[in-house]
Amino acid sequence: VLACPVCRLALVADGREFGCAAGHRFDRAREGYVNLLRPGRARRARSGDDDGMVRARRSFLAAGHYDGLRSALAHLLVGPGAVLDVGCGEGSFTAALTGVDREVVGVDISRPAVRLAARLVPEATFAVATVQELPVLDGACDWVVSVMAPVHEGEFLRVVRPGGCIVVVVPGADHLDGLRRLLYAEYRPHDEGVPLTDRLEVVDRRRVRAATHLATADEVQQVWAMTPYRWAAPVESAARLADAGAGGLDVTVDFLLTVLRAPPVATPTAGPA
Ligand SMILES: C[S@@+](CC[C@H](N)C(=O)[O-])C[C@H]1O[C@@H](n2cnc3c(N)ncnc32)[C@H](O)[C@@H]1O
Ligand SMILES: [Zn+2]
Repeated sequence: VLACPVCRLALVADGREFGCAAGHRFDRAREGYVNLLRPGRARRARSGDDDGMVRARRSFLAAGHYDGLRSALAHLLVGPGAVLDVGCGEGSFTAALTGVDREVVGVDISRPAVRLAARLVPEATFAVATVQELPVLDGACDWVVSVMAPVHEGEFLRVVRPGGCIVVVVPGADHLDGLRRLLYAEYRPHDEGVPLTDRLEVVDRRRVRAATHLATADEVQQVWAMTPYRWAAPVESAARLADAGAGGLDVTVDFLLTVLRAPPVATPTAGPA
């Protein structure tokens, strides 16, 4: 599945390294993941979720609030094949995509996220890379999965095999409503648009929704710390959150899961943006 980010030939694991036939070599980190950000791009690229966000996400997901989504994903993928989890984060959902005779690859721009993911799901391969420039061979993936992560249509279409599936999870209208009502003076439902054009056929669309209670101030802080609200919401909202969080918080967990099928013949693409 993996491709050399320099020459795009197949990349294979060889002990402590990954390498291509043209002689490009990439060290494997102690945790097993590989950094495939192209030199020069690394500095320009935004680094994605930072260590604090990633740890908050891990603790929050471990408490089970998103288990409905995890099992929906696990049931969706059937049989053997190659799976790419783009923007995989700390890997809790990547873990749900593994199975017998599956080759699972997770990619994220955040090194702290990929490090945790590699420890959690040793049977998968993880790389630090961007969605705009996936280090993945053309047409290599039976499934391309994106869970609340940036979508790049050109790259998704390039790496999915003809007739393969793209699975996109976006937050539903009411996702984390209780939190957003506290943080913002004016509550606005999320836009549920899936950022992919009609070149793709939608074959399934389902909602995963549940009411949940964040019982402790810690959980309220975790969910805040793992979302962009931490940066976007005004300072006084954060104080409101701290007060309210002490008594717990009722929130809706709401996801929209869309499955799209790639055209049965390879789509000509211009390559990465
Ligand atoms: C909301 S988190 C979702 C993580 C994971 N899919 C999950 O649901 O737990 C979004 C993820 O996208 C990653 N990300 C942001 N920009 C990216 C990019 N340009 N390329 C790859 N990943 C990116 C972040 O580092 C972060 O891990
Ligand atoms: Zn190469």
